[in-house]
Amino acid sequence: MHNSSNMEMENEINKELTDSFAMKGGEGPDSYAQNSSYQRTAIEDAKRLIQEAIANHLDPKTLTGKIYCIADLGCSTGLNAFLAVQDIVEAIELQYQSQGLAAQIPEFQVFFNDQIANDFNTLFRTLPVNRKYFAFGVPGSFYGRLFPSESLHFVHSSSALHWLSKVPKEITDRNSSAWNKGRIHYLNAPKEVAEAYATQHRKDLDTFLHARAQEIVSNGLLAIQMVASSDVIPDSDFKPGMELELLGSCLVDMAKVGLVSEEQLDSFNVPICYSPVKDVKEIIERNGHFSIQRMEALNLESFYAALNVEILVSWCRALLEQSIEKQFGRGIIDELFNRFSKKLVEFSNILRPEKPETVHLFVLLKRKHKA
Ligand SMILES: C[S@@+](CC[C@H](N)C(=O)[O-])C[C@H]1O[C@@H](n2cnc3c(N)ncnc32)[C@H](O)[C@@H]1O
Repeated sequence: MHNSSNMEMENEINKELTDSFAMKGGEGPDSYAQNSSYQRTAIEDAKRLIQEAIANHLDPKTLTGKIYCIADLGCSTGLNAFLAVQDIVEAIELQYQSQGLAAQIPEFQVFFNDQIANDFNTLFRTLPVNRKYFAFGVPGSFYGRLFPSESLHFVHSSSALHWLSKVPKEITDRNSSAWNKGRIHYLNAPKEVAEAYATQHRKDLDTFLHARAQEIVSNGLLAIQMVASSDVIPDSDFKPGMELELLGSCLVDMAKVGLVSEEQLDSFNVPICYSPVKDVKEIIERNGHFSIQRMEALNLESFYAALNVEILVSWCRALLEQSIEKQFGRGIIDELFNRFSKKLVEFSNILRPEKPETVHLFVLLKRKHKA
């Protein structure tokens, strides 16, 4: 039973969290909807793993009631969320049919979650007309409780869990050894900065798993896709987050000529952390509520083969433009991304690392049986 003081505590966690790093909304040329082919490639490759997950782990006979509840956490806008949900629904239907239970296929309730600043209007306007589910929007941070206890059967989250709940406080504190002066991310920063990011990510992932453990039924499934660092970083000059370092260096150049202030720059950090795969595994195991059924890297070769400067710039704009605008104002956006584009041409080997330094990780978790 969930008591009210637990609930209050979890709401407090939710309130504290930032909502400022939402993707660019709408359907325009720089919107997330139009610039999410990287994430889409991951969803497409994960389809076979979702099908196998359902074939191996969903026993129709254990469903009590006639409603199957699915949540997509960090859905953003655009086709991606709909594709992922459609894959899940179709795989479940197939599972019932293959067991001769076609007449008992449940009704599907699908909850689309994202931060409150997400463009839910575009999401709802573009919902597929022929969908086979009832759709709901759930605003709020997934680093807190979003759903009633034991109310979800399948939770999906793609390309979202490497976003931290917030920028770690100490990295914007000029009196801290973790102060991240003149950078927007942790690459090539003092080791205290990277440690602050890693500590925050560890806490966030544990909070996420704790919240989902309350919400998912016994034996329910949690399929996560997130960007992580390879455990073995290839011995090369390529490191996770180089594009963010390059973007940060453009802001440094702009600060030097007075286009942005140093204070603005020093207080801006991108809350993305690419934790090593082995750390992610350890966090899940230590949390203890879920068993790991599968953990492997997805294949994004087709995306990398097509990657060029223009795609990378639009992708970064879709991800970061809204928060950069909030921090530095609308006036610098075109100038910043023009400079970024030029630097990418100069350092174009970023687009073609010999061995990818990050992996797009797929993890299938099963909620352990609740006593
Ligand atoms: C890169 S997009 C991925 C969107 C979609 N799942 C996909 O695969 O294309 C990451 C999304 O996660 C959302 N997100 C990040 N942190 C979140 C949080 N704490 N709670 C809910 N959503 C969050 C962002 O707002 C953004 O829409």
